[in-house]
Amino acid sequence: MDRLRIIGGKRLEGAVAIAGAKNASLPQIAAALLSGEPLRLDNLPAVSDIDNMLAVAAAHGAVVTRHDAHSATIDAANARDGETPYDTVRRMRATVLVLGPLLARFGRARVSLPGGCAIGARPVDLHVKALTALGAEIAIEGGLIIAEARGGLRGGRVVLGSPSVGATETAMMAATRAKGETEIVNAAREPEVADLAECLIAMGSAIEGAGTHRILVQGGTAFRAARHRVIPDRIEAGTYAIAAAITGGQLELTHARLEQMASVAQVLESAGVRIWPGDRGLIVAGDGPLRGIDITTEPYPGFPTDLQAQFMALMTQAQGAAMIRETVFENRFMHVPELQRLGANVTLQGTSALVRGGAPLKGAPVMATDLRASVSLVLAALVAEGETIINRVYHLDRGYEQLDLKLKRCGADITRLKD
Ligand code: UD1
Repeated sequence: MDRLRIIGGKRLEGAVAIAGAKNASLPQIAAALLSGEPLRLDNLPAVSDIDNMLAVAAAHGAVVTRHDAHSATIDAANARDGETPYDTVRRMRATVLVLGPLLARFGRARVSLPGGCAIGARPVDLHVKALTALGAEIAIEGGLIIAEARGGLRGGRVVLGSPSVGATETAMMAATRAKGETEIVNAAREPEVADLAECLIAMGSAIEGAGTHRILVQGGTAFRAARHRVIPDRIEAGTYAIAAAITGGQLELTHARLEQMASVAQVLESAGVRIWPGDRGLIVAGDGPLRGIDITTEPYPGFPTDLQAQFMALMTQAQGAAMIRETVFENRFMHVPELQRLGANVTLQGTSALVRGGAPLKGAPVMATDLRASVSLVLAALVAEGETIINRVYHLDRGYEQLDLKLKRCGADITRLKD
C-alpha cells in the first residue's frame, strides 16, 4: 500500500487544474445502463472510484470504451440485470446507484447492500422508498437488495423524508423509464443532481426542476446516443482552496466555479481567506491571519459535509476557536484522533467538534479511514513541522486525481512512497 511523505512548511503557489466531479460522474455512469444507446462522458476524473463504477457497468454487460484518461463511452445495448457483485459494492457505496436504472430497464435488479466510506450508518431506505413509490416491490435478503416491477415502473409522487442526494438520483433515473409523470418532492439540490438531469436530458429525457426541491420527470423516454461533459469538482476545488489558505499561499483553481461553492467561499472569506474569480477559474489567497469560524454542515446550498474534515484542518491554524457541527452524517469525525496526533487541539462532543486554533502541528505517522478524512491529514501535514507519513493512500486515490503531483507542482514537499 502506498504512503505519502509530506514535509510541512512550504507555501503553495501556482495553478491547479480542477478535475471533473467524481460525485457527478458516478450516477451518470449508472444512467448509461438505462439506455440501449451509447453515452459518451467527458471530463471524468481519473480516480479509482470511476474505474470501479465503469467496471460495475461492464459487469452488467455494458461495453466500455476509454478514449483517454478523462473520456469514456458506455454502450449498454446488450446490458443485462444480473447481480451487482458484492466485491465492487463493498468498496464503494455509490454502486447502489445502478439499482434504479437496472430495475427501470429490465423490471428486476439485484444489488448487494453497499459498503464504502466508514462514515456512520448509511442506509438505503430512501432509495427503496423512492422505487416503491414508482411501483417496485423490494426485499432485502442475504445481503442483497432484490427489486422487481412486473409490467414496469409507473410514474408517481416520491416524497423524500430527507433530501438524500443518492435517493434523488435513483428516483430521477428510474422515473425516466416509468409510465407517466413523476414528481420528486424534497429533492436534493446539489449541483451533481442537476448535472445528472442535464446528462439524462441529453440522452432524451424530459426533466424539469433539477437543482430545486421539486423535480418533474416525464417517463417513457425514447433514448438516443448522447455526449455529456461532467461539471467540475466543487469538493476538490474547496480542498485546494483550503490548501492555499492553510499554507498562506495563493492558488489559481482552473475550471472551478464560484456559483457551485457560494457557502464555502463565504465561510472561507469570513475566516480571512480572499477568493476572487479569474480568467480561468478562481483565485484563492491566504495571505492574512486566519480567524476561527463556526460552521454547520448541511445539504446543498449549505456548507458541504465533504469539506468538513478539510475545514477542521484549517481551523487548527486559526486565531480563536471554531465550533464545527456535523448534521449530515453521524460519526464523521474519524479524522479528529489523527489530527490530534499531529497536535491539533480539538474537543469532540456528540455531533460537534470544538477546535481551539493556533496550536503548532508537528509531523507524525497518521492514517485515515475515508477519503475526506485522509485529505484533511494531508492539509494538516502541509503546515506541520517536520515529516508526516500518511498511510492508506488508496482512500485518496479513490477521489483525488494526482493529489501528490498537483501539490508538488505548487511547491509542496510531498513524495509518494511505493511499497
Ligand atoms: C452523496 C455523496 C457524498 C456526500 C453526500 C452528502 C456521492 C457519490 N456521494 O452521498 O460524497 O457526502 O452525498 O452530501 O454523490 N440516508 C438515509 N437513507 C438513505 C440514503 C441516505 O438515511 O436511503 C441518509 C444518510 O445516512 C445521510 C444522509 O441521508 O445521513 C445524506 O445522505 P445522501 O445525501 O444520500 O448521501 P449519498 O448520496 O450517499
